[in-house]
Amino acid sequence: MNINGTPTRTLRAHPEHGSVDIIDQTRLPHALHWLRLSTLDEAAHAIRAMQVRGAPLIGVTAAYGLALALSDEAGDLHLQNAAARLRATRPTAVNLHWALARMEGLLQPLAVAQRRTAAWREAAAIAEEDVRQNAAIGQHGLVLLRRIGRRQSGVLNLMTHCNAGWLATVDWGTALAPVYAAHDAGLAVHVWVSETRPRNQGLLTAWELAQHGVPHTLIADNAAGLLMRAGKVDAVIVGADRVAANGDVANKVGTYLKALACADNEIPFYVAAPRSTLDFAAADGAAIPIEERDGDELRRVHGLDADAALAALQQLPATAAVANPAFDVTPARLISAIITERGVCPAGRLNSLYPEDVHV
Ligand code: MRU
Repeated sequence: MNINGTPTRTLRAHPEHGSVDIIDQTRLPHALHWLRLSTLDEAAHAIRAMQVRGAPLIGVTAAYGLALALSDEAGDLHLQNAAARLRATRPTAVNLHWALARMEGLLQPLAVAQRRTAAWREAAAIAEEDVRQNAAIGQHGLVLLRRIGRRQSGVLNLMTHCNAGWLATVDWGTALAPVYAAHDAGLAVHVWVSETRPRNQGLLTAWELAQHGVPHTLIADNAAGLLMRAGKVDAVIVGADRVAANGDVANKVGTYLKALACADNEIPFYVAAPRSTLDFAAADGAAIPIEERDGDELRRVHGLDADAALAALQQLPATAAVANPAFDVTPARLISAIITERGVCPAGRLNSLYPEDVHV
């Protein structure tokens, strides 16, 4: 999608130089800064510190992180240690584990001398797949969006949570792919963007929607219910970090509350996710690990100071007790449909789209 009017992807690989460029998302929406990753350490840090974030992009970055790790040494132990290191960065988004398992599965049987080139090739294949799958989610979602009744004149009012857009993937996004497809097809859409405390990923969503020219309005998370009751929301669409076999969905904390409010207001609640986010080994949401993040994410707020420099303000003493679970689980019964690259299905019927997968 467009950044400064130019079609752009969120990640640029340079196998010939042994490096990958990413956008440092900790500096957005204030500055668009490309950051070069040249080592396993830098890739692991980028994922853990959320310089890259969003389930699909975490998976792709981890795949490239493994390619970076094999630059000087590609023996079995080195490969296993590098994969373990990357796997430990974030627990909830299954794309990370999926991408590393795919990379290891391909690389292990190869001769050591072949692994480096193969790793770069496979990481690139995962990145390309991500773009293709998100584009397909966009088209399937567009069909769905065309069918939704509008509560208010003309414009289709959507709501989203967190950032499941271009920035969270290599291109297009998951939840935002249908939004971009609708906007590009000439449908009048407007997006309510919830701020998503404490990391404020909604600011990223607002930034990328603005870059692509999609009308939107940022709201405090707690305003969602009021807007729904006032008839100002036609549908909610979110991404996912892990979808269990029964259709329960782990996504950014606060997603469950939106689903509950949708149910009370008879508003469709959609989840968009590619195959790499589906975890058929997790029977239901209870099997999904929920990341507990540093309490300083709540104790401090970030923004620009009077000199327009990035700054952090302490809003609570360092000793203040806080809890910071980063994700929640929305039960399948509250989800109107899941949109994947293969089509649209009820949350509890993922096997209709993926009959070849083993179901628990
Ligand atoms: O903690 P984050 O910012 O990596 O969490 C991201 C989300 O929860 C997204 O909504 C999710 O990954 C959707 S996938 C595009």
